[in-house]
Amino acid sequence: MKRMLIAVPILGGMALVFLLFLMAPSVNSAPIGTAAAGKAFWGKFTSLWCLSCHGVNAEGAYGPDLAGRGLSFEQASRAIRKPWGVMPAYTTQQVSDQDIADMVAYFNSLPKVAEPGPWRTTVPAGAPLGQRLLIETAGCGQCHGDVLGSPRRAAGGEGADFAWFEELVYEHTSEFPTGRMGNFSKARLTEETLRAIWNYISQELGLRVPTATTLKATAASDGTVTYALTLKNNGIAGKGLAMGNIYISMLVPADSSVVSASTFGYQGVQRFAPTGADIAVWLAPRLAAQETLTYTLTVKGTGASAGSNAFVRWLSPTRFVTPGVAGEFIEIARVRP
Ligand code: HEC
Ligand code: HEC
Repeated sequence: MKRMLIAVPILGGMALVFLLFLMAPSVNSAPIGTAAAGKAFWGKFTSLWCLSCHGVNAEGAYGPDLAGRGLSFEQASRAIRKPWGVMPAYTTQQVSDQDIADMVAYFNSLPKVAEPGPWRTTVPAGAPLGQRLLIETAGCGQCHGDVLGSPRRAAGGEGADFAWFEELVYEHTSEFPTGRMGNFSKARLTEETLRAIWNYISQELGLRVPTATTLKATAASDGTVTYALTLKNNGIAGKGLAMGNIYISMLVPADSSVVSASTFGYQGVQRFAPTGADIAVWLAPRLAAQETLTYTLTVKGTGASAGSNAFVRWLSPTRFVTPGVAGEFIEIARVRP
C-alpha cells in the first residue's frame, strides 16, 4: 500500500517529463513569419546587406534567386547560419530566427523568376587578378564596390596590416556584433586568396586616409572676405597613415583680388586653364594622422562675396581610387559669406 502511494507520484512525474519532451520540438521549431515583416527586413538597408548579392526583390544576382522557390525555414536557416559556399555566415544577433521566418514568408510570396538579375558590381574589362578575386571569387565587391573603397579608407586610418584585415573578414562579428557583414569561411575564402586581395588593395591601389574638410567664408567690416579651408587627417594618432604630396587650391572669386593668403607652401595665384578662373594654390608635403592644415585666402573687390570653392588632391598613400587615375581628391562646394 505504502509502495503504491509513492509509485503514483513518480509515474505522474515521469509522464509530465515525457509530455514536456513531446512538446519540446514544437517550442523550438520554426517561428511563424509574415511576408510584410520579411519585406521590411529585406529592404531595411538599401545597400550593404543581403540584397546586394540576392537582388532588390530577391530575384538573384551574385547569389541565387530566392523569390518563389518555396524554401523552408530550415533550408534558409542552414544557408544563413552555415552557408554552403562563399556567402558569409550571419549570427542570431544580426539576423534572428524570426527574421529568417519572415524573410522566408516574403520570398515565398514572390513570383519565381525566369532569369536572375544582373550583378550589382561587375568585373571591369581587363581587371587585374586581385580585383577579379574581390568581385567574382569572394563577393566583397557586391557591397563594397569594385575597389573596396571604404575598407581601404578604414585600413589607412588604422595603419592596418593583413592581420587586421583577416580578422575583420573571418571574425567580423567580434568587432561588429550587429553589423551588416557576416563572417566569411576560411575554408571557402582561403587565406591565400584573401592575401592576394589585400596585396591588391594595399599595394596596387594603395590604402586611403579618412579626411575631414571644411570651407568657411567670413565677411569683415572693411569689405574684405576671408575664405578658410581646413583639411584634417582623421586617422588614429600614431597609427594612421600620413597623407603626402598634397595640392590645395581655392577659387579667387571673379572681380576680386587677393589681399593676403596663408604663407606656408603658398604658390601664388594661377590661371586654371579649363575655366580661365584664378586659383590660389598651396603645396604641402605631408599631413600625419590627427593633424590639421588651415589655409586662408582674404580677398577684396566687388566680387569678393561671390563665393569660393576648393580642391584638394594628394598622391599618397592612395595610388588609385579609380585604377589608372593617380591619387585621390576632394572637391569642396562653393561657400559664400
Ligand atoms: C556576398 C554575397 C552574399 C550575401 C551578402 C548574402 N548571400 Fe545568400 N547566398 C550567396 C551565395 C553565393 C549563395 C549560394 C550558396 C553559398 O555560397 O553559400 C547564397 C545562398 C543563400 C540561400 C540559399 C538559397 C538556396 O537556393 O538554397 C539563402 C536562403 C540566402 N543565401 C539568404 C541570404 C540572406 C538572408 C542574406 C543576408 C542576411 C544573404 N543571403 C546574404 C551570396 C550572398
Ligand atoms: C553584405 C555586404 C558586405 C559584404 C559582402 C562584405 N562586406 Fe565588408 N563591410 C560591410 C559593412 C556594412 C561594413 C561595416 C561594418 C558592418 O556593418 O558590419 C563592413 C566592414 C568591413 C571592414 C571593416 C572596415 C570598415 O570599413 O569599417 C572590412 C575590412 C571589410 N568590410 C572587408 C570586406 C571584405 C574583404 C569582404 C569580402 C571578403 C567584405 N568586406 C564583404 C558590408 C559587406
